[in-house]
Amino acid sequence: MLDKLNRKIDYLRISVIDRCNLRCVYCMPEEGIESIPHDEILTYDEILRICEIVSELGIRKIKITGGEPLVRKDIVNLIRDIKNIDKIEQVTLTTNGILLHEMLDDLYDAGIDAINISLDTLNKDNFKKITRRDGLEKVLMSIDKAYDLGIRVKINCLAIRDFNLSELVEIASFAKDREIDVRFIELMPIGFGKKYNQIDNDEILSILESRFGTFEIVTEKRGNGPAKYYRNQNMKGCIGFISAISHEFCESCNRIRLTSSGFLKLCLHYNKGIDLKGPIRNGISDEDLKKLIHDTIWNKPISHKFGHANEEQDIELKNMVQIGG
Ligand code: GTP
Ligand code: 5AD
Ligand code: SF4
Repeated sequence: MLDKLNRKIDYLRISVIDRCNLRCVYCMPEEGIESIPHDEILTYDEILRICEIVSELGIRKIKITGGEPLVRKDIVNLIRDIKNIDKIEQVTLTTNGILLHEMLDDLYDAGIDAINISLDTLNKDNFKKITRRDGLEKVLMSIDKAYDLGIRVKINCLAIRDFNLSELVEIASFAKDREIDVRFIELMPIGFGKKYNQIDNDEILSILESRFGTFEIVTEKRGNGPAKYYRNQNMKGCIGFISAISHEFCESCNRIRLTSSGFLKLCLHYNKGIDLKGPIRNGISDEDLKKLIHDTIWNKPISHKFGHANEEQDIELKNMVQIGG
């Protein structure tokens, strides 16, 4: 469907859980964040009902996120059931990769279309510094196994001056010999992200060009997100940039979000949206639920306005783990 600014909304990101098995410093404090009580989290039946209804409104692609989505019990069953909804064309997953390698065969059988795996460093000690946990080998194993199964894999690298500037070339090299896209994400000033220094993607591109030679922008559509992709003749995969800070992409935004507690969220950074769990648990009919969602999407706000917000009361105060990126 279109919103009132004529943007085509066909992509829903569902955060299935607000818990995570890592503690990335830019996302959470050491002790974690108080989780939503179990009965406040949407059940799989409730999520499926929402998916059916939004598919009738034009949503074609679903992204499963968290927290860390793979820590939620029986997540593969949910993915299989969403895949079986008629009008849903793609179900993809964004994960930190820790539990992925053991679940990959089942995810493949369930029909997962693509998986994005976070990888901010290739150094064990640095991994522990960033995530406050061990597990780098598991993430690397997951990347290899997913690729070998023939699943489309993308790497998400959050570039932070304080942590991984010197490793960006090595991380980009994952795109060299395999068709794996490596995407660099600009740190957004959300929650704990405010404490660290981001690196503009333009700076990363020039670092990569001095090592690999010229990159050319990819003009055909690739992925469903806001990433801009570049190709280098010596690389099989592409390099992508998600530049929320240096280049706003709100004008072409195609997405809405559903939080694990059932809030339909219209913009990553704004608190605007509507609670769906209440009406669902109070017995709303399919028809009324569809109208409620339709009217909410219609009013999607124009822009995230990082750093120059003029609607302070609406600014999202949650941390990334509770939104799912
Ligand atoms: P695909 O291309 O289909 O893989 O989608 P994607 O890039 O949206 O997926 P992914 O979950 O890997 O998202 C990567 C990162 O992009 C997220 O963690 C966010 O940091 C950022 N991102 C995704 N959507 C938005 C958005 O609407 N606004 C902003 N500012 N950042 C976003
Ligand atoms: N800004 C941008 N990306 C973030 N992520 C977590 N916190 C932030 C932030 N403040 C990223 C993770 C992961 C993706 C799902 O979201 O690094 O790659
Ligand atoms: Fe977990 Fe992702 Fe947050 Fe790291 S950034 S703690 S992997 S939710």
